[in-house]
Amino acid sequence: MPRILSGIKPTGRLHIGNYFGMMRPAIEWQERGEALYFLADYHALTTVHNAAQLRENTRRAALDFLACGLDPAKAVLFKQSDVPQVTELTWLLSVLTPMGLLERCHAYKDALAKGFAASHGLFSYPVLMAADILIYDSDIVPVGKDQKQHVEVTRDLAIKMNETYGAGLFKLPEPSILPNLATIPGLDGQKMSKSYGNTIELFLEEKALKKKIMGIVTDSTPVEAPKDPANSSIVGLYRLFASEADVAQMEADFRAGGFGYGDFKKRLFAAIWEHFAPARARRAEIEANPGYIDEVLRKGALRANELANATLGRVRNAMGL
Ligand code: TYM
Repeated sequence: MPRILSGIKPTGRLHIGNYFGMMRPAIEWQERGEALYFLADYHALTTVHNAAQLRENTRRAALDFLACGLDPAKAVLFKQSDVPQVTELTWLLSVLTPMGLLERCHAYKDALAKGFAASHGLFSYPVLMAADILIYDSDIVPVGKDQKQHVEVTRDLAIKMNETYGAGLFKLPEPSILPNLATIPGLDGQKMSKSYGNTIELFLEEKALKKKIMGIVTDSTPVEAPKDPANSSIVGLYRLFASEADVAQMEADFRAGGFGYGDFKKRLFAAIWEHFAPARARRAEIEANPGYIDEVLRKGALRANELANATLGRVRNAMGL
């Protein structure tokens, strides 16, 4: 039975890029192996420096994940920081991590390109991520495309450790990336990302969601004129939520003319709202039971600690500690 692992960074509200790129595939994987998912609060610390905010984000991320269908009877959900052993493994990996490998990583390169002063934490972020993956002897890592490079770094580090300290010390993980959902577009058609300000958050209030969708920037083609569906972010997003027939209808209506962008946006809003109706109901149920999330995370941490202790013991021994 494969072991499946992935994490999500509670730096703000989760959005539909997270949902299609990672959460929904992760929830599907819970049927097919031992699945472990965590809220990457250590990673979030590279950008969130307010304690109350981080706690709230982390709790909300757990709530959203559970609402979307993560089943604690099938998958383990925990907080990254409930397994501080990963920080020790990070150190053990870093002594063999070439600087050049990290200098090539895009999160760090992007920060430099934007003129941010990158912290050491941001620079070594991929090593912590490698530790997350390797400490649970993970086989499969369901992620969006933007995390592919980090899984490759993980494999490189595992190979280097195995060459130095003995074959079989670490398993080599495989990323699992769904080709048609690898990069979910945002409101502006670029990759949906908090840092681009183009996200549609999960579980927005009805009015707020409507406002976001109606605010999608479009060109000034008049209502009567035909429009191009190929490069429309409305159609791109609609494809995620609507049936093939409804998408075909929208594309045809784009080409035919006679429909304004406002009409298409209303269809998009309705499709999103309906898609998340069951999850909204589930979310309200969980919220009515305040101890539930704590209990799920407590149990999750127990299992994660058990696995992490075994790996760390093996690695310490292999390295002479
Ligand atoms: P994070 O929190 O940035 O994103 C969580 C997951 O959502 C996916 N994702 C997307 N997929 C498709 N289209 C998009 N627009 C989009 N935006 C986000 C991401 O690819 C990711 O899978 N470093 C990780 C968290 C992490 C982790 C790990 C993941 C820490 N340790 C170990 C896997 C294994 C991150 O920042 O993800």
